[in-house]
Amino acid sequence: MHCPRRPAMPNTLAQRLHVDYPIFLAPMAGEAAKAPLVAAVSNAGGLGVLGAGYMSPDRLLATIAEIRSLTSRPFGVNLFVMAPGERSSAGVDTMRQALARYHAELGIAPPTLPASLEENYEAQMEAVLSAGVAAFSFTFGVPSAQHIDALKAGGVCVMGTATTVDEAIELERHGVDAVVAQGAEAGGHRGTFLTDDFQGAMIGTMALVPQVADAVRLPVVAAGGIADRRGVRAALALGASAVSVGTAFLSTIESGVSDAYKLTLTGPASRHTGVTRVFSGRPARGVRNRFMDEMRAFEVSAPAYPVANALTRDMRAAASRQGRPEFLSLWAGQSAPLSRNCSVAQLMEELREGLSQSDLPLTREAR
Ligand SMILES: Cc1cc2nc3c(=O)[nH]c(=O)nc-3n(C[C@H](O)[C@H](O)[C@H](O)COP(=O)(O)O)c2cc1C
Repeated sequence: MHCPRRPAMPNTLAQRLHVDYPIFLAPMAGEAAKAPLVAAVSNAGGLGVLGAGYMSPDRLLATIAEIRSLTSRPFGVNLFVMAPGERSSAGVDTMRQALARYHAELGIAPPTLPASLEENYEAQMEAVLSAGVAAFSFTFGVPSAQHIDALKAGGVCVMGTATTVDEAIELERHGVDAVVAQGAEAGGHRGTFLTDDFQGAMIGTMALVPQVADAVRLPVVAAGGIADRRGVRAALALGASAVSVGTAFLSTIESGVSDAYKLTLTGPASRHTGVTRVFSGRPARGVRNRFMDEMRAFEVSAPAYPVANALTRDMRAAASRQGRPEFLSLWAGQSAPLSRNCSVAQLMEELREGLSQSDLPLTREAR
């Protein structure tokens, strides 16, 4: 469905992407990574971005084909950049013992470490390169120079995630086209990649965006805590060229997440989010639930990503089938209580209202 258009503000990042508005669907891998949501955001004049981190190359290509069947507008794809190599098994046995009681409660076989921990990143990247999408964004690291060059040679707009100023500078050095500044409010995994000090890299959007805008000569996309017109307006005032909105899209009609997830987001429980490693082995923000609370003792010792993620997969799948949100990773940001169960077009209309304050000191581009 196309919603009525109003004149778009001058914005070179939006122009470069051929989208009407500098409003992006934040990439969200997992349950939310479905074609209808991505296509609906693009159809409403924003940039839909598919979080394909957990997809096999075949599924990634099939989902891209499905998006193309739903929209002729530009969209992007996002991957987790993971260095290849051995994954440490430190902490696996202790974690398995801890998970056993939840498996028993869910009536499933005791936890085992699957043979396949993660998708093959190189193969995923080949799929992205072959698909000819408008934008590619990434998190957890930086793609090789060869991949960045190939993407750019194909006309793809390349955007990297930074959680600190140092990371933004590093991304600029690697030749990306735009930096996504992910504030500490953001839902889902932290993109932090230059430091093991995840706590030190928990910088709020309000503090991070202007610092990144000052530090790099690239367009900055603000992510984290933006859920309505006020957030959009604030992000632009801080120097962002565009916004990346995740959590607020999760509860829309077109979002493919479960009803239990949507109800949690629009209910009072979403006032309490926290950052945890116990679901995946990498810090991520989600609605606090029983698993997060009971597993607090494992925050430090849980195996690193993707090992812990693979270990908790069966539990999460069973919890999803059985409608047990207390064992699900309900990734959501601190703005989750602003969630509404509305259509994508309605949410886009709300967000677009934040673009119309043209008297604000806008972006480096607009200055
Ligand atoms: C359910 C969920 C899944 C996410 N998955 C990804 C992902 O696959 N890749 C990525 O770069 N960021 C991911 N993120 C982070 C978002 O792209 C973005 O930084 C965040 O949603 C912005 O904050 P907000 O949730 O407050 O809007 C995810 C966030 C959520 C809520």
